[in-house]
Amino acid sequence: MKSLFALNHYLYKYRVLLGLGMIFVITSNIFALFLPQLIRIGIEQIQIYLPFSYVFNGLNISHLYIDMIFILIAVISIIIIITTLIRGILMFLMRQTLIVMSRHVEFDQKNELYLHYQELTPSFYKRNSTGDMMSRISEDVSRVRMYIGPAIMYISGLIVTFSLVIYSMASINPYLTFWTLIPLPLLSYSIFKVSKIVNIKSESIQKTLSSLTSKAQESYSGIKVIQGFARDHAVQQEFEELTSQYRNESLSLAKVESFFSPLMLLLVGISTLLAIYIGGNEVARGRFTAGNIAEFVVYINMLTWPVASLGWAVSLVQRAAASQKRINEFLQVTPDIVSGDKYIINKIESIRFDNVSFVYPDTGIVALKNISFEIKAGEKIAIVGKTGSGKSTIAELLVRNYDPLSGQIYINNLPLKEIQLSHFRNLLGYVPQEVFLFSDSVNHNISFGNPNATQEDIEHYAQLASVYDDIISLPKKFDTIVGERGVMLSGGQKQRVSIARALIKNPNTLLLDDCLSAVDAKTENIILSNFENNWNDKMVISITHRLFTVKNFNKIIVLDNGTIVENGKHEDLYNKKGLYYDLYQLQIQEEVDSK
Ligand SMILES: Nc1ncnc2c1ncn2[C@@H]1O[C@H](COP(=O)(O)OP(=O)(O)OP(=O)(O)O)[C@@H](O)[C@H]1O
Ligand SMILES: [Mg+2]
Repeated sequence: MKSLFALNHYLYKYRVLLGLGMIFVITSNIFALFLPQLIRIGIEQIQIYLPFSYVFNGLNISHLYIDMIFILIAVISIIIIITTLIRGILMFLMRQTLIVMSRHVEFDQKNELYLHYQELTPSFYKRNSTGDMMSRISEDVSRVRMYIGPAIMYISGLIVTFSLVIYSMASINPYLTFWTLIPLPLLSYSIFKVSKIVNIKSESIQKTLSSLTSKAQESYSGIKVIQGFARDHAVQQEFEELTSQYRNESLSLAKVESFFSPLMLLLVGISTLLAIYIGGNEVARGRFTAGNIAEFVVYINMLTWPVASLGWAVSLVQRAAASQKRINEFLQVTPDIVSGDKYIINKIESIRFDNVSFVYPDTGIVALKNISFEIKAGEKIAIVGKTGSGKSTIAELLVRNYDPLSGQIYINNLPLKEIQLSHFRNLLGYVPQEVFLFSDSVNHNISFGNPNATQEDIEHYAQLASVYDDIISLPKKFDTIVGERGVMLSGGQKQRVSIARALIKNPNTLLLDDCLSAVDAKTENIILSNFENNWNDKMVISITHRLFTVKNFNKIIVLDNGTIVENGKHEDLYNKKGLYYDLYQLQIQEEVDSK
């Protein structure tokens, strides 16, 4: 339950709504109390006047008594209608305050969690599955809302109803009150038990349903493989197994749920029976009136719903506590990368790696060992090496997706850790190795790099990235939707769109991580020479497999197994006849083979 304390600051924030809600809970319950009392008064008055009409039977005066009874009933009915109407309005206001408050809290909590997700680093995203994060921000938050809204409303309503009704009952006849209340705790307990079973069952149904959907989803996206391997029947069977599990679980839930109302009616029936039986005896002894019996029956009915909802509300609170615990777990994760606040830089003039080593925290893989190099404004450097040699890791450290284990990275001779991060990242045009495009138009995907870009800018940078002609040939040109739910672009087209997205930022430094691997050598050359012509004063760091295209670069760093084994200009490295020479020969060989 402790986990729910984390919500107190929301309750404080919406204290006005909460306070008003409580007032409406109390007043609506006070108005509910009029009904049983009015019924008693009605019955008692009839009991007084009816005998007179018998006594004066046949005389004019007898009609007078009958008329009086009718007027009395009419007046009482009107009062009942008015009080019920007022109660209805108060209940409406109670929902308008408490349930509305819960929606506000839900909104705030979703945003709080989303903001926190945004601050967390890639290592967090590697540890936790997307599905888990989604369920915390959607299902868990809605369960917490059920506590803030309905649970608080029902539980406070219950406390108020209980105190008022039991006080009224006990002040009439404590003995009868005791007997009629006996079955109610039993009702509450059994409904609590039933709701618990219902919750467990619905949770397992939810799980089955989600594996059912992901199974279906996977088979739709993998339909080519399934049909190609003639596995349709096997997949169909697996699907059928899941659907039949889903059906069985749903049927078993329906069985439990069908106990709900009969159980409630049974226990309420017993209470009513006791009220009439024991109440009748009391009337016979003269300690009670017939009106009192009717009043008691209405009181019992008034208690039924709150008592029934107690079990339900308690289970809501329990579920909310479990959910809030899961939410707290994520909220308490502190981002392992925190922006520095000492320096704000507006231009990247130099980048220096000083003895940087790095180990991936989750796997313990040593990715970089004692890396040192420096790049100055206007320089173009290439980082080359075999696959897995640590090239992308250098890029990840530079954008501060991770921090070095030892050593330091300096920008303009200032430690990167002390530099305001979002400013710095804005100066970088980073194109990661894994291309990601949003399910959106080409236009929006490119202008993502600079939301203020005009259509002309977008087209200009598309040209620089050498993807303009490809886009023009799409059905809706720049308005074509790409990504998962749109036109499938080829690997090379995606890479070039993502380059345009980085270029449109007009960054100070371009960091390209093997982002032309799926583009042919000729296009790669065109793009790189576009840079030459337009980016003279800017830094370019290009991680690549294609050594031919970086021959003219100012410096080439050759990585092997996380260490820099060679670095320098193309000619020097070539003449050294070391790893660079081998890689180069290998590429010439590949080129020959492919021709
Ligand atoms: N997120 C990660 N978590 C754990 N280990 C990783 C992660 N990313 C990379 N590694 C490991 O770190 C080492 C260096 O990987 P890196 O991605 O830097 O290589 P690379 O030179 O970019 O290779 P490629 O040319 O294939 O892109 C590899 O052994 C890899 O398995
Ligand atoms: Mg890589």
